[in-house]
Amino acid sequence: MKVILAKSAGFCFGVDRAIKKAYELIDKKGIFTYGPIIHNEQVVNDLDKKGIKVIKSLENIDTMKDGTIIIRSHGVTENELTTIKDANLGVVDTTCPFVSRIHKIVNKKSSEGYIIVIIGNKNHPEVKGIIGWSQTEPIVLNDVKSAKELQIDSASQICIVAQTTFNRNKFEEIVENVKKKVYDIIVFNTICSATHERQYEAEQIAKQVDKMIVIGGKHSSNTQKLYEICKANCEETYCIETVEYLDLITFNENDTIGITAGASTPNNIIEEVYLAMTEFSGENSFEKLLEESLVSIHNGKVVKGNVIDVNDKEVILNIGYKSEGIIPKKEFTS
Ligand code: F3S
Repeated sequence: MKVILAKSAGFCFGVDRAIKKAYELIDKKGIFTYGPIIHNEQVVNDLDKKGIKVIKSLENIDTMKDGTIIIRSHGVTENELTTIKDANLGVVDTTCPFVSRIHKIVNKKSSEGYIIVIIGNKNHPEVKGIIGWSQTEPIVLNDVKSAKELQIDSASQICIVAQTTFNRNKFEEIVENVKKKVYDIIVFNTICSATHERQYEAEQIAKQVDKMIVIGGKHSSNTQKLYEICKANCEETYCIETVEYLDLITFNENDTIGITAGASTPNNIIEEVYLAMTEFSGENSFEKLLEESLVSIHNGKVVKGNVIDVNDKEVILNIGYKSEGIIPKKEFTS
């Protein structure tokens, strides 16, 4: 049996950053995450055991004295952020910089009079958060059909953004359909590059294997999209949460198996599945595959990166490493 593990499988840097910040707080009292920190029951249960509880609403926020709320990588609405701050609670904001960028675009363009069109799932927490940063009611489109049925004044000014985990091909198709209805359009392709790379790699692997395994939580939107992409290219695609689910699949000795995983799937779960599927050897060790997928850096090395956010004090870069690069603004010359 041959096993191909996607190099892009597992935590993206936004989720990795949120999880690390949560684990840094486990010794402190009164720490809550607003919604599950990731779509992974094992991690959420582990944090719960270590004292970090999930709150589902802000209704009883007044009773949470001296607490701290962790905002997950999906982000929250502007109103929710204000409510938390007004309650004088501590805030650890782990909103992914890619998502914060969408909040800024939507906020600015809606105040300039643009109608905001969000391409994504209106029930997903990230999209709900984005909606809450618009000054006017946005339009949410999830498929080509809804774009074709869209009724809108052709003289409108439209600003289009996307849910970060949306499928790029589907996004482009929806945009083309909106363009047929309105002339004044600004399009921000806000699909996260990590998502695109993960989906592209999964598609390429799915095309060449007998069976494809997608590891991830059943509530994870990006896992479901990975599953759809793999299923379209490999009939025998299975979505599993943990290694135990492998028992439900029948494998043949000569099968080639592909493995990928959603952005909220911890490395230890991927490792368990990978090790169950292949004999452990120095050549194929999980750590080695993971190392190969990461950029190697050391002091003094010059690396290229993409700027993903700029705040008052820092510039944040994606340099393809396991965590983002952070450069204090004072280190820049004019
Ligand atoms: Fe952020 Fe992209 Fe992950 S938007 S949370 S780095 S999938």
